[in-house]
Order: sequence, then structure tokens, then C-alpha cells
Amino acid sequence: MSDNKNFHMTPDDFRKYGRAVVDWIADYYERIESFPVLSQVKPGQTRGLLPSEPPALGEAFESILKDVDNLIIPGLTHWQSPNFFAFFPANASGPAILGELLSAGLGIQGMLWSTSPACTELETHVLDWLVDMLGLPTKFKSDAAGGGVIQDSASSASLCALLAARERATEYGSNQQGCDGRLVAYASTQTHSSVEKAVKIAGLGSQNLRLIRVDDRFALRPDDLVKQIKQDRQDGLIPCFVCATVGTTSSNAMDPLSEIGGICREEGLWLHVDGAMSGTAALCPEYRYMHDGMELADSYCFNPHKWMFTNFDCDCFYVADREILIKTLSVLPEYLRNKATESGAVIDYRDWHIPLGRRFRSLKLWFVIRYYGVEGLRYHIRRHVELAQNFARWIGETDRFELVAPAPLNLVCFRHLGGDTFNQQLLDRLNQSGNIYLTHTTLNNKYVLRFCVGQTHTEEHHVYQAWRQIQETAKELEKSDLR
Ligand SMILES: Cc1ncc(COP(=O)(O)O)c(C=O)c1O
Repeated sequence: MSDNKNFHMTPDDFRKYGRAVVDWIADYYERIESFPVLSQVKPGQTRGLLPSEPPALGEAFESILKDVDNLIIPGLTHWQSPNFFAFFPANASGPAILGELLSAGLGIQGMLWSTSPACTELETHVLDWLVDMLGLPTKFKSDAAGGGVIQDSASSASLCALLAARERATEYGSNQQGCDGRLVAYASTQTHSSVEKAVKIAGLGSQNLRLIRVDDRFALRPDDLVKQIKQDRQDGLIPCFVCATVGTTSSNAMDPLSEIGGICREEGLWLHVDGAMSGTAALCPEYRYMHDGMELADSYCFNPHKWMFTNFDCDCFYVADREILIKTLSVLPEYLRNKATESGAVIDYRDWHIPLGRRFRSLKLWFVIRYYGVEGLRYHIRRHVELAQNFARWIGETDRFELVAPAPLNLVCFRHLGGDTFNQQLLDRLNQSGNIYLTHTTLNNKYVLRFCVGQTHTEEHHVYQAWRQIQETAKELEKSDLR
């Protein structure tokens, strides 16, 4: 620690320790495969290593950084490991991390255009770029009636979409009087749980969320949706919102947007499309078929913080009509009044999401897009899909495993033929080995293993090694089952 008397870090020390932290991160990525992917600590173990009292006197930065190695690293699951195949990726990259650092360094608040015009304008610009990069309908662009905004997460995006749908359906009455228990939302049984959370928070009540059955590809059945909407109207309820998913969490199922969108138009319902992970695949024209029908959507979101090399958090949320969203969320206290807002010539993103404050998240996205270029991003997405497809092919070639769902992109759902308990044990053994990390789901009441390829540095040999380990571990288990 320096001997300066005001306790702050001096610019010189900041340079010195800043370099040390960047070196630390670079080293971390170089040695990441030496750590067990899934943290092996027991509950309470990390806290048990921490002093019960905070330090009265400041400590040397070197010792703080050393404790990251000693105390924190053992308690981490290494999401950036190329052997991480669990859940969905939360991938990151050098340019994103540096953009994040810069954003922290600038430390600005972009709640209003006037509180940092570049924060708002870069965000608008990059989100417009992404409309073209993903081949999305141009109605989502800021020069049309819509526009995009960065949210912290797809969960927040769904909530904002639902709030806007609620207000549109009640002519902004529920903002004033609250909900009367008659608004109804629809999603499939495979929709991410964030929609149920949104329905609770938005005051619709979870009993007013209808989970529509899916077909044999785990995609929402439009015929069932129509029937349910009609039934609800007959019962005096007010259908207002449908969430369709491109790439469901469990199995990567693609809901049929064109048919669902047609129903929403006919019935006057808001259609929100959740493309949290799979949306990024639309960078490649050959995968854009999953977005057929997107022109019928009122809102859409996808997470660069899942599969587009932009560290958490960064969800891109688009609406076709920004006025509805703004009217839903805008509250204007005196202390936020300013000339730029009153001129009507600027965007104030505070009216596009729940919090007031917002940091400069578009910097990291801008860095990523500029550093990789569209071609660089496409290259990696295609590569991940190819690696997952190889894995799916290997599964199909054995007689001891089966594929349990279609694998359109980078997620493969499979199981050993030995049954649920066998698959549970297989998963536990694989994860305890520390070499790889996979997670599970249930599909058609069967316990299923998920293998998702999407980490920044995952290569062919990682996937191949994982497959070998899965086979070998299964063989060991088969033997112990026979005994
Ligand atoms: C389809 C889908 N939607 C939403 C989410 C939630 O994402 P977030 O963590 O950004 O809220 C997930 C997370 O896996 C997801 O798979």
C-alpha cells in the first residue's frame, strides 16, 4: 500500500495494479483448464476462509489479489473453461472484458441522454447495427417506430415486454388502478421460468399464465394456443401476451413464430420472442429460418452475454413501437427534467427498463463487434454448431446412448439407455471428475443430459475428450451395475 494519506489509490498505483490485474486475467485464461470446471467446495467453505471482521486499515493490493487465488478461485465454477458444457454459455472475450473495464473506468450514468450523450447514442447505434447483423425486421430500428435497448438480462426484457403488453391491453389503466385478475399470458411448457416470474411481478398472477402444450419437437402447439385463448375469452378474461421462444432452455426447441404471430395479430395479443441464447445464431444467414415470422413480433430479445462473446450482463431488447414501452415505464420527477428531454429530440433510456441508473454497457458490445467483425463472429458460431453436430452424430452412432430431442444448433440432449438413475449417476461422476461440466433437464418425464457448446475457446479436442470421458464413465458404471 502507498503511504498517501487520503486512502485513495494514486494514478501511478492504479497503473501498476491495473497491469497486474490484466496480467492476472490473461494468466487465468492460460491456466483455466487446470481447475476443476465445477467448483468442489462445500457450502460455507468460502465464507469460513474470510475474516469475520472487515479490515480497519487498508491492505496492500498485492495481498488482496493473492487472496483471489487462495480464497476465491477454489469456490469458482469456471464458466469460461473450454470444458464447460453446462446450462447455456456465458461466454466472454478480450475485447468485451476491456470494454467492461473502460466502462467501469469512465463510471458514467447513462440514465438520460444529457447525463452522457455518447452512452445513449452509441447504444442506439450498435443496437441498430445488430438489427442488420441478425437480419431482424427493420421496424426494430430507431429510425422506424421501434428501437433497441440493452437490458441486464432476458428476464428483465420479458418483464418489460409483459408490462408494455399489459398497458396496451388496458389502455394504460393497470398502471393507474393495478390489475383486476383478468389479464392472461401464454407461453409453452418449455418456456424459460423468467416468464412465470414476470407474470408474478407484473401483477397478472401466476394462475393467469397458461402453459401451452408442445409437439414432439418440444415447440409450442399453435392449435392449443388458439383453443386456450378462445376459452379464456369465453370465461370473461383478457388475453394480452404470448411469449414464443427461439431456442428453449431445456432442448433448444424453436416455437413456430409465423403461426403464433398470426394468432397474436388476429387476437390482438402482444408477441414477445425470447431468443436468449440461440438468437446469436442469426448472425449466420443459414440459421435465420428460426426467425421466420419475426415481422409479427412486438418485441424480441437475445443475449450477447450468452453466445456472442460479450461478458455478462448484456441483453438486447427490441420493441416495434417504442411509444408503448415508454408510456408504460416513464415517470418524470422534477429533478430529472432537462432541456434535451423536453426537446423530444433524444432518447432517455431510463424509460426503457426498470432501473433508473445505467452503465455504459454498449462499449463492450461495440468493442466485440469491431474487434471480431461480423465475419469473425460468424466463424465462431458456425464452429460451435459444427462441434455440437459432431457430438450429436457420435451419439447417434452408438447403441448405448440416444438423442432425445432435435439438435438444431449447439445444444445436444441425450441419454444413456440405462434409465434415469443411471443417467443421474453418470452426470454426477462426470461433474465430480472436474474435467467437464454438464447439466440435465427432463423431457417427456425422462432424465436427460444436455451438452451445450458455446464457450469462447472450446475446440474440437475438448468436445472429443468430453465424449470419450462420457463413454468411459458410462462403461465403468455399467460394470458396477452388473456387480
Ligand atoms: C430461453 C431463455 N430465456 C431466458 C433466459 C434467462 O436469461 P437471463 O439470465 O438473461 O435472464 C434463459 C437462460 O438460460 C433462457 O435460456
